[in-house]
Amino acid sequence: MLNRLTRRSFARLAAAAALTPALPNALAAPREENVSPASPLLSFPRGFLWGSATASYQVEGAAKEDGRGPSIWDTFSHLRGNTKNGDTGDVADDHYHLYKTDIALMKDLGLKTYRFSTSWSRVFPNGTGTPNPKGLDFYNRLVDGLLAAGIQPYCTLFHWDLPQALQDQGGWQSRDTAHAYANYAGYVAQHLSDRVQHFMTLNEMRSFVDLGYGNGMHAPGLRLSRADLNQVRHHAVLAHGLGVQAIRANARPGTKVGLAENITCTVPVIETPEHVRAAHIAMREENAGYLTVIMEGKYTDLYLARQGADAPKFTPEDLKAIGSPIDFVGINCYTPEYVRASSAPAGYAMVPAPESFPHMLSPWLRTGPEALYWAPKIAASVWNIKEIYITENGASSSDTLTPDGAVYDTDRVMYLRNYLTQLHRAVSEGVPVRGYFLWSLLDNFEWADGYAYRFGIHYVDFATQKRTPKLSAHFYRQVIARNALA
Ligand code: NOJ
Repeated sequence: MLNRLTRRSFARLAAAAALTPALPNALAAPREENVSPASPLLSFPRGFLWGSATASYQVEGAAKEDGRGPSIWDTFSHLRGNTKNGDTGDVADDHYHLYKTDIALMKDLGLKTYRFSTSWSRVFPNGTGTPNPKGLDFYNRLVDGLLAAGIQPYCTLFHWDLPQALQDQGGWQSRDTAHAYANYAGYVAQHLSDRVQHFMTLNEMRSFVDLGYGNGMHAPGLRLSRADLNQVRHHAVLAHGLGVQAIRANARPGTKVGLAENITCTVPVIETPEHVRAAHIAMREENAGYLTVIMEGKYTDLYLARQGADAPKFTPEDLKAIGSPIDFVGINCYTPEYVRASSAPAGYAMVPAPESFPHMLSPWLRTGPEALYWAPKIAASVWNIKEIYITENGASSSDTLTPDGAVYDTDRVMYLRNYLTQLHRAVSEGVPVRGYFLWSLLDNFEWADGYAYRFGIHYVDFATQKRTPKLSAHFYRQVIARNALA
């Protein structure tokens, strides 16, 4: 009964306040004498940056507007059988037109920062050559709107939507793409860095390389040999390095450059010194093709030995560019990879997850909150990193709108509470995590999974584009307001 009343009043309030449904009274203001004393709040450091993230192709829509050129995701998603239900990003969240509504949602949450990505083929419809001023204009409007709302923009320069024109010339299999990327990155940084202080070069190299060129599940849907795949991987880290240099050469002094990588989040299988040590070794070796070569400017001996004749071809100049110093590291952190000590020469072994391991709706999203403690802690110690952001963390759920218009995503709230508790553990030990970007602000186009797996803390009705804050949005608003976990 109480449950029904609570639900009804929640929905009534939600309907009354278009953007800010208040919590039902029964939940928001318990009578003091009836409740057990709360445990102390888990407070975060003053100025901790609470944010949320999205990406161009996943939210913008307006695929053919204002001179935007096609990207590999337009091509891929329009080919039968590549995405669930044949879904495409043609309209997505229509954020291109509704960005003001979305900034209002962010403001309502109390977000301090917002991570978005620029669409390369909006800015350079053919990947290179003459820029399209209308493309950049959109990001100018977005950035201005964010700043007017008191929200710091964090800009990702590549979130997988490679211009199709470049794919037609070999895509990431060609070194030229790394140079074209640097040109584009420098151009955007030059025009936005008067208002954007933080740029991320590439998002999740591991994903777009391994899924796009390895197993064909993502655009452009290729299945390359191990040697060719390693070369693509090398071109991706090279693009990062050349991008860092181009941003530094073109942006305002003081601009900070980093990346957002889904590193293998190594977690000691048991928290004892030998397994903790093994998790440190594994952090370097399991990320050798991506973050390690970027942080160290060289491939590890073990990586080269493991790849053997399939190792990438590179020059010393490549490595110098790849190792260009960066100002911060962004970690996209979802699932833990457990590591144990081993007497094998590598000094560690990965422990495969049993089939019964709990996961969210996406089968790959195994839940291990302690990843958010160990990943930044180990990365900071291995590479002496002084500024870390969790550039993504979040959960897919089978969210449904109740008849009275609410979404009780209790599983996502549970997930966030547990992960943030572990992040708090890291931050309280002095691990230099400066901010956290929840993936995602809105339900959106989840790549090959289409719109079936929802990651937003706002429910999107894709037929009407109506946004509804889920229970997790209310939870996150409280976290931000108190700068603490309750
Ligand atoms: C990683 C990607 O960066 C993002 O685009 C994706 O939607 C989320 N993780 C969830 O899969």
